[in-house]
Amino acid sequence: MNALAPLLEFLSIPSVSTDPARKEDVRRAALWLQERLKALGFRAELHETPLHPILYAERRVDPEAPTVLVYGHYDVQPPDPLELWETPPFSPVVKEGRVYARGASDDKGQLFAHVLAAEGAPVNLKFLVEGEEEIGSPHLSPFVQAHQKKLRADVVVVSDGAMFAPYTPTLTYGLRGLCYLEVRLRGARRDLHSGAFGGVAPNPIQALGWLLARLKDERTGRILIPGFYERVRPLSEEEKALWPSLDEEALKRELGVEVLPGEEGYSVLERLWARPTLDPNGVWGGYQGEGSKTVIPAEAGMKLSMRLVPDQDPEEVADQAEAYLKAVCPPGYALEVLRLHGGRPVLTDPFSPPMRLMARALEEVWGRPPVYTREGGTIPVVAELKETLGAPIVLLGLGLPDDNLHAPNEKLDLVNLEKGVAVIRHFHELLVEGGL
Ligand code: BES
Ligand code: MN
Ligand code: MN
Repeated sequence: MNALAPLLEFLSIPSVSTDPARKEDVRRAALWLQERLKALGFRAELHETPLHPILYAERRVDPEAPTVLVYGHYDVQPPDPLELWETPPFSPVVKEGRVYARGASDDKGQLFAHVLAAEGAPVNLKFLVEGEEEIGSPHLSPFVQAHQKKLRADVVVVSDGAMFAPYTPTLTYGLRGLCYLEVRLRGARRDLHSGAFGGVAPNPIQALGWLLARLKDERTGRILIPGFYERVRPLSEEEKALWPSLDEEALKRELGVEVLPGEEGYSVLERLWARPTLDPNGVWGGYQGEGSKTVIPAEAGMKLSMRLVPDQDPEEVADQAEAYLKAVCPPGYALEVLRLHGGRPVLTDPFSPPMRLMARALEEVWGRPPVYTREGGTIPVVAELKETLGAPIVLLGLGLPDDNLHAPNEKLDLVNLEKGVAVIRHFHELLVEGGL
């Protein structure tokens, strides 16, 4: 309980990075963490960006000791819809061995495991913690580029993901990337009476439907954007053999669905980890209120998220998608494509020396060897950390698949936090013993 009090404090700061009204709260979370790290003997500085600050902290204990760079994010997703929370999102509560709050798992709780493990750690530690991950890390890249030397490390450890299942120590070696577009369609100059003009008026909602239908094949689930799959790296049999087996029936039960639709010819895990996707994440247009209103809207639109895999490039995919949408858009509509987020996919070496050490640490703490996974989600900066710093990456997810990330009633299991701290501490010991 004692060790937990500060985490509850951290979680009570509503650091919602996308909400302009929360700008000061986001900053407060950074300052809170800065103080915490200072108290542990770190030199900790805030770097201003055009939006939310980056926290960089370091503590050298021994010039001979290995250096670990920890990346995490102190910002969180909006808590909406509020009415679905059983307890308020920024009043953390501990119930049945879990802490409930926005950010409990993503990512304050997981990041906090590294802060707890930093106490008395025998390695040189650096923390790179941003407040803009949930909005696509728009200002982190210039910081990483400008401070390559400062960020130099023997290993980069990121805890911002999940274990494969409860009590299943997990090492992750891949993340999908993201290309997120907003598509806007305009027909007439203004909304039109659907009787007075129906029959001659362009209808952007109808056109949006046609566009959507042409993006993906209904039977095969294949994405129809020319060139989309060109750079997709095929999955080797060896790699597939490394993966744990997924209980598909349990997943269906958990999601409340009877089928898990997706691209034909690929297993569920392949579709989650190694295949790209395209999903409308929002659509709008026309009258949405109570009852009916006979009107043909002038505008309609949608948000599209495409999860990418190596070696797809978000900019290239955005170009391909935009060109295709423009090519298949029926005449008489103005089509606009906005690029909202991009994040590159990344694969790391599952058996790099620090991954082997982390595997040992996991096995010795949990009493069983880790499973190896990729993740379907995106952490935009990881590809860049890998390429720019050249250090091996260890993705040590401490959450669980049912943590309700980005959803109401987000939680973190305390056993994962405790074991996570033990694993990180043990990893530090193994590093110092000269394992690298
Ligand atoms: N921690 C998640 C990414 C994640 C989710 C990793 C699930 C592993 C499993 C991260 O905070 C996140 O939500 N990323 C966004 C990135 C986007 C806003 C650019 C995502 O994946 O949607
Ligand atoms: Mn996260
Ligand atoms: Mn997130």
